[in-house]
Amino acid sequence: MSAPIVLQIFRGESDAGQEQRFEVPAVEGMVVLDAVHYVQANFANDLACRWNCKAAKCGSCSAEINGRPRLMCKTRVDEFADQEIHVGPMRTFPLIKDLVTDVSWNYEVNKQIPGFTPAPNEPVPYRMLPEDTERVYEYRKCIECFLCQDVCHVLRNHDDKSAYYGPRYMVRIAALEMHPLDTRKRTGLLHGKAGVGMCNITKCCQEVCPEHIKITDNAIIPLKERMATDVYDPVARIARKLRPGRASQPGSESPDGLAGATPPQRFAVKDVVRLKTRGRRFARVGRVLPDGKLEVWILHMNGKVQHWDGPKIVRTSEVTNNYGPLDEVGIGSKLVEQYITEDHAAEQQH
Ligand code: SF4
Ligand code: SF4
Ligand code: FES
Repeated sequence: MSAPIVLQIFRGESDAGQEQRFEVPAVEGMVVLDAVHYVQANFANDLACRWNCKAAKCGSCSAEINGRPRLMCKTRVDEFADQEIHVGPMRTFPLIKDLVTDVSWNYEVNKQIPGFTPAPNEPVPYRMLPEDTERVYEYRKCIECFLCQDVCHVLRNHDDKSAYYGPRYMVRIAALEMHPLDTRKRTGLLHGKAGVGMCNITKCCQEVCPEHIKITDNAIIPLKERMATDVYDPVARIARKLRPGRASQPGSESPDGLAGATPPQRFAVKDVVRLKTRGRRFARVGRVLPDGKLEVWILHMNGKVQHWDGPKIVRTSEVTNNYGPLDEVGIGSKLVEQYITEDHAAEQQH
């Protein structure tokens, strides 16, 4: 029979409390949440812990296990052979009791983000290409466990919740900004209240995400690039003066206190866009011209091979959606080859 597991569980309320030692019989396949439940059932009926699914899907059982933010239901006790297992509450949020923290600040932040906004004339039911849905699928895997918020040093060490929404909400904003049917711009919000500039790309959030969302690589960095283009790019500034962007049009300013924020420019170099007048064609932005028009390279597919034809000048009114900057592979990661061709004649035929 294997030795009992030694748990050191934090007990206390508000700022006062200390660890209490428990011994729990080891059972094969046991996770930390099982051990905590054993303690609740046998030694400490008043031990407070939050959980729901026990399947790593509800995001309720977040805690700090041996100093690392983790889901209790996804952490096996045999990972800690011959070690005591220290279980404590997330430290970034106010403690309610024992392992339960008050995470309501996150829900308040969530309310400040303008939701999904399709074009008024977008036909319903909404239709999207499979590659479009793949692009946003990663962000939609979030289970709101707030482990990334817990580990983020901007929120945790500096307790600066007024300056930064945190990685979870960068993921949500990315899901909206890169949604193929969303038309709203949120770069003014990112630059202002959401505080994307506070993130210094340490990637700690990405390391603890139980859904393996590449929070920094696929959400925060693209949002930073987009925000920087909109707010700081001098060419984009000139273009905005010549041709005001969407956010400066009547009724387009978000209702979240962004007055005074620099009106965002909708397009940046390397953004992938969908062209209205060319069916469901994708194009990659090569340049944003001073008059606001776009020089684009238009995507043609031949099986899994991409051809980017161009350059072609299009008006921004020809663009239905802006997907944001994609990596060098382009749309989706399953494509094996891509070619850039200067083929105006070929483009005319389509
Ligand atoms: S990468 Fe940014 S959001 Fe993530 S933990 Fe570091 S500072 Fe916070
Ligand atoms: S992004 Fe990952 S770590 Fe952050 S709340 Fe969502 S699932 Fe949890
Ligand atoms: S109990 Fe649902 S994620 Fe752990």
